[in-house]
Amino acid sequence: MATPQTLLFDTANVYAKPFRTQLLKWIGNKQRFAHEIISYFPPHFKVYREPFLGSGAVLGTLAPREAVGSDAFKPLIEIWQTLHDEPETLKSWYAERWHRMKGGDKVAVYSEILNSYNAQPNGADLLFLSRSCYGGVVRFRQDGFMSTPCGPHDPISPESFADRVDTWRTRTSGARFIHRDYKDAMEDAGKGDLIYADPPYSFTQSILYGAQKFSLADLFERIRHAKEKGVFVALSIDGSKKSGDMLCDIRIPDGLFEREVLVNCGRSMLRRFQMDGKTLESEVVHDRLLLTY
Ligand SMILES: C[S@@+](CC[C@H](N)C(=O)[O-])C[C@H]1O[C@@H](n2cnc3c(N)ncnc32)[C@H](O)[C@@H]1O
Repeated sequence: MATPQTLLFDTANVYAKPFRTQLLKWIGNKQRFAHEIISYFPPHFKVYREPFLGSGAVLGTLAPREAVGSDAFKPLIEIWQTLHDEPETLKSWYAERWHRMKGGDKVAVYSEILNSYNAQPNGADLLFLSRSCYGGVVRFRQDGFMSTPCGPHDPISPESFADRVDTWRTRTSGARFIHRDYKDAMEDAGKGDLIYADPPYSFTQSILYGAQKFSLADLFERIRHAKEKGVFVALSIDGSKKSGDMLCDIRIPDGLFEREVLVNCGRSMLRRFQMDGKTLESEVVHDRLLLTY
């Protein structure tokens, strides 16, 4: 089996332009360096599949002709489906909450929306919470309740959000959005398709995303199966291998990947949040990108 090679970004052949306008704020999002990741995608593939969609940074930057975006987090997929089917509804979800906040006590209105979300998790509240919560870190308690406090910033205006909706609607027009586990999503992939996987790789992240259980060993098994079917797989892994004070030493199965690329992603957002807003200038991490091709 080939030994994975470590490549540095400056050897890459970039062919997607940076696209930095986020629709949602999402912890661990790849918006700032999605174009770097894309530069390592195979030059030709059939359907683009993103089974850990989150805020869809790579999908939005790639703007593929045919794609399937999926995630196990139902209210999140509700946002994506609404973007696709009824973009005007998405704009009104945001505008209604923004005006309510503008016309009242900011923190009280935020709590109202948070309580409404926790009483019945839904895309409309989640959308506004993602843009207005502290540090853009949608965080859940062990019991599944969202617990992030109100952010000190003013959420973007409804006009600015509406522009983003139009841009994202166009860029993701070739995509279908499905609520499902990554295992079902990967099973659907056929020869020549490309899967970009950005899983909740670390201990801390599994707490952040609604305390879903996640096993990297299971994912490696699914990747092996996909590779055998002739699917291209690109997997992102946190290069710092650090999660709070826990060191997660990830063992990569022999022969599964052909190459490993280091992609620069600047400071870790998660770390910054945990340090109560203090930035850590020295906290420069690299994301690892593992490729089966
Ligand atoms: C690191 S985030 C993806 C971030 C994304 N690349 C972006 O740019 O925003 C991981 C995502 O995996 C989702 N997830 C967690 N467990 C999952 C599972 N078993 N199947 C599918 N999605 C899952 C989470 O809801 C979260 O949105």
